[in-house]
Amino acid sequence: MKDMQKIVIEGRRSLEGVVNISGSKNASLPIMAATLLTSEICSIRNLPNLRDIDSFSELMNSFGANIDKLDHAINICCDNINNLTAHYDLVKKMRASILVLGPMVARFARAKVSLPGGCAIGLRPINLHIDALKKMGATGSVEKGYIILEAPSGLHGADIYFPKITVTGTENILMAASLAKGRTIIHNAAKEPEVVALANILNKMGAYIYGAGTDKIVVDGVERLGGFEEAVIYDRIETGTFIAAVAAAKGEVLLKNAKIDMLECPVSIFDEMGVIIEKTEKGVKVSCDKGLKPANIYTAPYPGFPTDLQAQIMADLSLAYGTSIINENIFENRFMHVAELSRMGADIKVSGKQAVVKGVKHLTGANVMATDLRASASLVVAGLAANGTTVIDRAYHIDRGYESIEKKLQAVGARIWRES
Ligand code: EPZ
Repeated sequence: MKDMQKIVIEGRRSLEGVVNISGSKNASLPIMAATLLTSEICSIRNLPNLRDIDSFSELMNSFGANIDKLDHAINICCDNINNLTAHYDLVKKMRASILVLGPMVARFARAKVSLPGGCAIGLRPINLHIDALKKMGATGSVEKGYIILEAPSGLHGADIYFPKITVTGTENILMAASLAKGRTIIHNAAKEPEVVALANILNKMGAYIYGAGTDKIVVDGVERLGGFEEAVIYDRIETGTFIAAVAAAKGEVLLKNAKIDMLECPVSIFDEMGVIIEKTEKGVKVSCDKGLKPANIYTAPYPGFPTDLQAQIMADLSLAYGTSIINENIFENRFMHVAELSRMGADIKVSGKQAVVKGVKHLTGANVMATDLRASASLVVAGLAANGTTVIDRAYHIDRGYESIEKKLQAVGARIWRES
């Protein structure tokens, strides 16, 4: 009955203490996929305990990978892969499964991956991944909801021009190009820290990748790649989510292990709103003891404002002294949290990509529904600030991307718990 769980919050309690930031979900998933590129043991440390990590492990197991699950770590070995099909019932749980496509074709010359299907925040096609792999010599067809790619004579390097910046698209090609024959240049590449983290690990495995973190990445393919032992970088979106929580609930919290050098844009916006954010040797200290000023948000690829923090900062801005404009430029349907925030008294008008948020004096606790991962985080932020009790239904969404969020918030004084 895990899926029927609710999260209950009694609002208006300020936060004091220390929160341990976990390893990054969006860095962990491509790194787990990269283990398909080698037959040697790969040891991944600082993994977060998340549903998405469990789902990805289940997917890797279905291929025949050997996985030892340790405490916030796994050893994974893909020396005995006996299935090259990623089944729908596993892929539908997590779109990031598409990350197996590139490494699987590169190492095994074939992959059959269920098309992920739609998702709450948008259509999220994978055409750019497929077009790029075809440019590298893969031939493909779509049959009964599966993409089937083959490269009997292996992949070869190519000039890849992404017409739109795609994070997992860049990651798929980085992995595929590492074992392709010759040089691949990725133009208009994603510059997210998670892409850089993947490139660093691929280079540790023996790849030759230059320029990760810029919009032009050069990869010289090699014959084979070796194993690695590496810790995953800390989660910048979890960090930003807890900054939004302190902005809403007020107080002072140390976000242990957090780094703000991967959050320049959100930090400058929160600073503009009146949140005090300081880098310390233990992590990031966040404090806020007064009302918030409005701000205008434009989500964009890194280093712009991350779309994954848009819902959370909207909860803060719904309480600001004034009007804020939020432009969601990455996904076409990422305002599902607006209807739920409105049930709590927020004054938000959406037209197309734009949400106009008029600050209100207070929010009121209500029964609300989580629709997707970051929308559910937004409702937690709002619940911390609201008068009275908020009950968030379908709380399983939040467990996809946040490790024990209610325990971390309880530890700093929030009145928050789970109910079935
Ligand atoms: C990654 O998704 C993240 N997921 C998302 O985080 C994040 O929101 C997104 O990047 C943007 O930063 C992981 O890293 C596992 P995209 P991804 O390809 O790679 C369009 C979270 O909450 N597009 O960069 O799937 C697409 O529809 C998740 O942790 C195509 O049109 O996103 C979108 O509009 C949510 N064709 C835009 O590009 C394609 O082939 C950016 O998508 C691929 C993408």
